[in-house]
Amino acid sequence: MVKAYVHGYNFLEKRRLEDQAKTLVDILHSDTFYPAGSKILEVGCGVGAQTITLASKSPNASLLSIDIFKESIKEARKKIESRGLSNVQFQCADIFNLDLEEESFDHIFVCHVLEHLSQPFNALAILESLLKVGGTITVIEGDHGSTYFYPDSEAAQKAIQCQVELQKRKGGNANIGRELYPLLNDVGFSSISVSPRMVYVDSSKPELVEEFTINTFTAMIKGIREPSIAEKLISRAIFDEGVKALYRTTEKDGVFCYTFFKAIGTKLQRE
Ligand SMILES: C[S@@+](CC[C@H](N)C(=O)[O-])C[C@H]1O[C@@H](n2cnc3c(N)ncnc32)[C@H](O)[C@@H]1O
Repeated sequence: MVKAYVHGYNFLEKRRLEDQAKTLVDILHSDTFYPAGSKILEVGCGVGAQTITLASKSPNASLLSIDIFKESIKEARKKIESRGLSNVQFQCADIFNLDLEEESFDHIFVCHVLEHLSQPFNALAILESLLKVGGTITVIEGDHGSTYFYPDSEAAQKAIQCQVELQKRKGGNANIGRELYPLLNDVGFSSISVSPRMVYVDSSKPELVEEFTINTFTAMIKGIREPSIAEKLISRAIFDEGVKALYRTTEKDGVFCYTFFKAIGTKLQRE
């Protein structure tokens, strides 16, 4: 009886420690692998945050990572070189004006890019034309409508809504995660599977408190303080109260939840 309890305890303790070690990379990329010899196009690589994971998890695949900003490409290249990865080439290019051969990639990867585009359907249609028949596209996007936390705070929700509104005014969509299935379906991808990836954070996961709640989400909201106030979306006092409430969720009894959506679609031969 006692022995079973001890075993059970050890098992649960091991699970707890494994859970604690979980990072955003595990949540988003535990199943991102590409076969040896395959050609991958990463679109909108930015400064290479995902490129490192893609390149190191699929060392025998070759990547072409593109971004519209030269400076980001420079930074991404530096990151990849500093880690000794040699399976990535970079190119400065606009999704809407690519000089790449049709049906020349085995897989395409897009992360946190569609949310910034006013024509996500057109972008996906272009990318579909670059995929070989039988190839897949992987798209990961967030959805700010999926944000909830404890203690709840109306001010924090209002501050988050400022981000949604500002992005909308720039032609983007901060709630695009929920639209991945219809978008991929409308473009003509087959066998689409969308998996919600919830980032659940409480104080038993200090890495996620630091990496996600503080350094990713709250930092992003803090970054829109001035434009939100300048565009009269919110008062200074409510915005600051909202940010304070987001920090409050990182305390011992606080909880923060956000959901990313990871969609994978396949290009099949059209009839
Ligand atoms: C939020 S960042 C995401 C970067 C990276 N994928 C990641 O997950 O860390 C969006 C990136 O998309 C790039 N981007 C936006 N519009 C683009 C376009 N038309 N063509 C190529 N890249 C574009 C931006 O320059 C930026 O680096």
